[in-house]
Amino acid sequence: MTFRGRVAAAGLLGALVVGAVCAVLPHGALVAAGLSVAVLALALHDRLQTQEPLLRNYPVLGRLHGLLHQAGKLLGLRQPLAPYSWALVDLVRSRAAGSSEYAAFGAQLDSPRVSILHAVKPAVVEEVPERVVLGQGCAQPYAASYFNISALAFGALSDPAISALSRGARDGGFFYNTGEAGLAEVFLEGGADLAWQIGTGYFGCRDSAGRFDRGAFAARAQSPAVKLIEIKVSQGAKPAKGGILPGEKVTARVAEACQIPVGRDCVVPPMHTAFSTPIELLEFIALLREAAGGKPVGFKLCVGQPRDLFAIVKAMLATGLAPDFIAVDGAEGGTGAAPVEFQSFVGTPLRRALPLVHDALVGAALREQVRLIASGKITTGADMVAALARGADLCAAARPFMIAMGCIQALICASNQCPAGLATQDPRLIRGIVPRAMAANVTRYHQQTMQAFRELVAATGCRSPAELSGAHLLQDGGASGVSRGQFLDGDLPASYAAAWVAARADRF
Ligand SMILES: Cc1cc2nc3c(=O)[nH]c(=O)nc-3n(C[C@H](O)[C@H](O)[C@H](O)COP(=O)(O)O)c2cc1C
Repeated sequence: MTFRGRVAAAGLLGALVVGAVCAVLPHGALVAAGLSVAVLALALHDRLQTQEPLLRNYPVLGRLHGLLHQAGKLLGLRQPLAPYSWALVDLVRSRAAGSSEYAAFGAQLDSPRVSILHAVKPAVVEEVPERVVLGQGCAQPYAASYFNISALAFGALSDPAISALSRGARDGGFFYNTGEAGLAEVFLEGGADLAWQIGTGYFGCRDSAGRFDRGAFAARAQSPAVKLIEIKVSQGAKPAKGGILPGEKVTARVAEACQIPVGRDCVVPPMHTAFSTPIELLEFIALLREAAGGKPVGFKLCVGQPRDLFAIVKAMLATGLAPDFIAVDGAEGGTGAAPVEFQSFVGTPLRRALPLVHDALVGAALREQVRLIASGKITTGADMVAALARGADLCAAARPFMIAMGCIQALICASNQCPAGLATQDPRLIRGIVPRAMAANVTRYHQQTMQAFRELVAATGCRSPAELSGAHLLQDGGASGVSRGQFLDGDLPASYAAAWVAARADRF
């Protein structure tokens, strides 16, 4: 049964029960009439409010979700399988609503993943910088916020959701990654700074055979909104997995954004055709940078075999070419659609991947040239501090921004039935999203999380996020103390030696 069908059945059942109770009560007709008026008033309120997309789509009945959420928390029930705990969801939602930053009574996030080590003498919060430069050597470097929106693609999200994210990012001064389904008009309309992602389908920059087209790329990359270019090598929720865009989803709008024929199946291969070796990847990056007029270009990777990562580092050494950034996506990342095995069991978690990438670049004396962007369940300022202490330079999040807009983790993104109207193209559901209101949520969530991040950085005694290191975390998982250029002298930590030796710049 569809989600809508289940809700209708629950509503019918509820009405029957209430009707039956009223039938046996004295003055039952009066009670029933009073109840009907109250329910109608509530339904009207729910339909007209702009903060809860679920309630706009399912007036009154949608409240059951909130009641179950609160009851579950009060009764201390085990949460059903959902990536984000009730406590985290409440935190994001209250930040999105602009509620007070302060809570009471002690530790509230139920799964503390990190202990940050503070200093006796904190730094001054207001002096902690808010931005970090990507592509310092480029003709058009970009000063990014420390917290940004990770790839959330056109088609995976509804247009009003993309519009809200784009407007929210514009107002908050941070970037939004387009995802791999092309640079659709709706991204540009919102006015955000954009990271344009190029996946294996080359949507928006492909020829009729589906191969990369330099001319088409250059034309779109010139857009002033495009600040960064990101090649998607892999993502945490489905590394090494391609896909297929079924013909029925290729509407005229999708076809236009992706530059593919209307109504025809489109295969998204698991591997790029524009490069097949580490050296070719770096040459492709150099080509994109030039064609984009000197904008920073990098790639997104979920780390699998360390040998593959080391091969790219060796190619950097061999060619003198380097990406401006590497976006390291943890295996814990999300997706709109992928086999459950890939989402659950494939790839390296962020806390292990970041130190590996950081160490490899430090060991090869290349760390200064490349910024590391971390993503994978980064939700709070504490997650950001942990990511930077483990080697990142800045962070991005995807699902937390969806939660800020009312995502209830129904886990049915791929079914086109998202009850909050976020991950669907169903016109009856997307009307739940009011872009103006949700954009404000996106901006507020970002602003409060950044504030918490800067306060935590100051609490460690660091004057800049760049000073954070593994020494600021109680847990292990920081970088392993590799010194600059150590690998070049053949001095390899035992855990990296075999993979480094096996890695080759000319093949994956
Ligand atoms: C609905 C949805 C669509 C996504 N689309 C893309 C995409 O097009 N390209 C990509 O590299 N990652 C995509 N991602 C992954 C996110 O960008 C991100 O890497 C991952 O979810 C980790 O961030 P998070 O834990 O904050 O969600 C998508 C995730 C979701 C939930």
